[in-house]
Amino acid sequence: MAIFAMGWHKPDNVAGSSAPAIMVGSFVATGGLLFGYDTGSINGILAMTTFKNDFTTGFRDAEGNPGMYPSQVSLIVAMLSAGTAVGALLAAPVGDKWGRRRSLIGAILVFCVGAIFQVCATNVATLVVGRTLAGVGVGMVSVLVPLYQSEMAPKWIRGTLVCAYQLSITLGLFGASLVNIFTYKMSTAAAYRIPMGLQLTWASVLALGLLVLPETPRYLIKRGLKDAAALSLSRLRRLDITHPALIEELAEIEANHDYEMAMGADSYHSVFFGEPHLGRRIVTGCGLQMLQQLTGVNFIMYYSTTFFNGANVNDPFSISLIMQVINVVSTLPGLFVVESLGRRRLLMSGAVGMAICQLFIASYATANGGNLMVQNQILIGFVAIYVFFFAASWGPVVWVVTSEIYPLKVRAKSMSISTSANWILNFGIAYGTPYLVGTTKGSPGSVDLGSRVFFVWGAFCLVAVAFVYFMVYETSKISLEQIDEMYERVDYAWNSRSFEPSWSFQQMRDFGFSDSGVPPAVPHLELQSSRTSSAGTSHTDTGVSSTTTSTSSQDDKIVASLGHVDLSY
Ligand code: BGC
Repeated sequence: MAIFAMGWHKPDNVAGSSAPAIMVGSFVATGGLLFGYDTGSINGILAMTTFKNDFTTGFRDAEGNPGMYPSQVSLIVAMLSAGTAVGALLAAPVGDKWGRRRSLIGAILVFCVGAIFQVCATNVATLVVGRTLAGVGVGMVSVLVPLYQSEMAPKWIRGTLVCAYQLSITLGLFGASLVNIFTYKMSTAAAYRIPMGLQLTWASVLALGLLVLPETPRYLIKRGLKDAAALSLSRLRRLDITHPALIEELAEIEANHDYEMAMGADSYHSVFFGEPHLGRRIVTGCGLQMLQQLTGVNFIMYYSTTFFNGANVNDPFSISLIMQVINVVSTLPGLFVVESLGRRRLLMSGAVGMAICQLFIASYATANGGNLMVQNQILIGFVAIYVFFFAASWGPVVWVVTSEIYPLKVRAKSMSISTSANWILNFGIAYGTPYLVGTTKGSPGSVDLGSRVFFVWGAFCLVAVAFVYFMVYETSKISLEQIDEMYERVDYAWNSRSFEPSWSFQQMRDFGFSDSGVPPAVPHLELQSSRTSSAGTSHTDTGVSSTTTSTSSQDDKIVASLGHVDLSY
C-alpha cells in the first residue's frame, strides 16, 4: 500500500476523466523514439564494413581497409546536432503560428524527408543532407512533444506523462543498438539501409495519429479561439462543454493568459527580461538542460564501447547494450515517484548519486595509475549505478521542469531556447570528448585527461545539486497557471515546496491587474485548490488560514455549487 502512496494518486475531487488525456499524452510521448533512435543509430552505422565500402572516397585505414576520412565522419555526426539545434529554435515560431499539433506533424514530415534522403543516399553529400533534415525534425520534436504534453495533461499526472517521453528516448536509443547488432553482419547495403529505413515506420504512425488528436486547449486560448479550446478540453476531460467545471477551468486559463499579457508582450525580449520573473525562469531552464549534458551521460551513451574497450572489459558491445537496458528500466522509478517525491528532491538526490559514482570511478581509476584497466566489475558496476541515477532523475525530470516553468505567453519560445542549449552542449560533448579523454593523443587541442574526465562530470553533478537547491521551484501538484503565482509570491526556490496557491486570475482580472502583478488588496479573493487538495480552506503566504468565499454572480453560484471540485487543470 505504501508503495502506491509513493506513486500516482488522482485526487477524488477532480471533475471528469483523466483517461483520454493520459492516452493522448502517452501516444505523443513516443515522439521520443525518433529522438533516441536517430541519435543512437549513427555510431553503429559508421562502423559497418558495408557502409565503409559503399561510401568511401579513397580513405584507407591502418590495415588498408576502405574507410571514411575523419572530416567526413565529423560532418555526418555533427550535422545532426546542428540540425537539432536549429530545429529546436524553429519550433517556437512554428509552434506559436501553426499550433503544437500541426507543427508536430510538420516536424515529423521533415524528419521523414531526412530519413528518405538517408535511405536513398549513395554518397556522403546526400547522407549529410538527410542527417541535417532529420536533425531539424528531431530538434523540433524535442521541444514540441513536452510542450504538447504539459499543455494538455491533468496536473496530478503531468510530470509522469512528460517522463514517458524520456522513456521513449531511452527505448529509441536501445532499439538503435539492437537493430545495428542484427544487421551489421549483412553483406549488402541492407546492413545500413534497414536501420535508416526503420526510422520511417514509427514516424508515420505518429504523424497519422496526430491527425486525429486535439490541439492543446492552452494554445487555442493563446490564439483567442475560445470555442475550439472548450471543445479540445471537453475531449480531453470527457466533460460536456457546458459543464461548469470545464467552463471554470477555461476561464481561469484565459484570465491567467490575460494576466501574463498585462505584464508585457510575448516577445523574445520578454523571455529574458519580462515579468513575472521570466529571466529567472529561462536561466533555470537553460541551466538544467546544460547541466543534464554536463553530468556526462552521453559520454556513456556515445563512448561506452570505446571506454570499456580501453578498460580491457570483455565484450564491450554487450556491456554497452546492458547499459542501454539499464537506462530504459531505470526510467520507470522516476516515472513513478516524480509526482509524490517532487521535482526538486528527485533532481537533487539523483545528482548526489551520480556525483558519488563519477567521483568514485575517477578516484579509483586515478589511484590505479590513471589507466582504466582497473578491476572491471567495479568499474562496470559504478557506471551502471550512475546510469540508474541519471535515468531515474535528470533524464526525465529536466524535460518535465522545462515544460512547466514558463508562462503560456512565452512557453514555446523559452522551451525552444532551453532545449537548444541542451543540443549545443550535446554536440560540444560528443565532439570534444575524444580531445578531453586523449583518444586523439598528440593532436592539437587534446588535453588527455584520461579517466580523470570523470572528475569533470562528477564536479558538474555537485554543481547540479546546488543549482537545483537555489534555482528550481517545486512545480508538482499545481496547475501551470498556479506556477505563475508561485514565481510571483515565493522569493526563494528552497521555500517553494510549501507554496499553496490562492489567487483566482479571474477575480484579479475583474478587479483590474495591478502593475506589480500582485492582486489588489481586496477583501475577498477566492482561494484556489491547494497542493494537498484540501477543499475550501487554504493558507496564504502570510500563513493566515482563509476560507473560500461565495461570490454574487450567477456563474459563480453554479461553480460554488460544485462544492469541493478541483477546478485547476
Ligand atoms: C538526453 C540525451 C541522452 C538521453 C539518454 C536525454 O534526456 O537529453 O542527451 O542521450 O537522455 O537517455
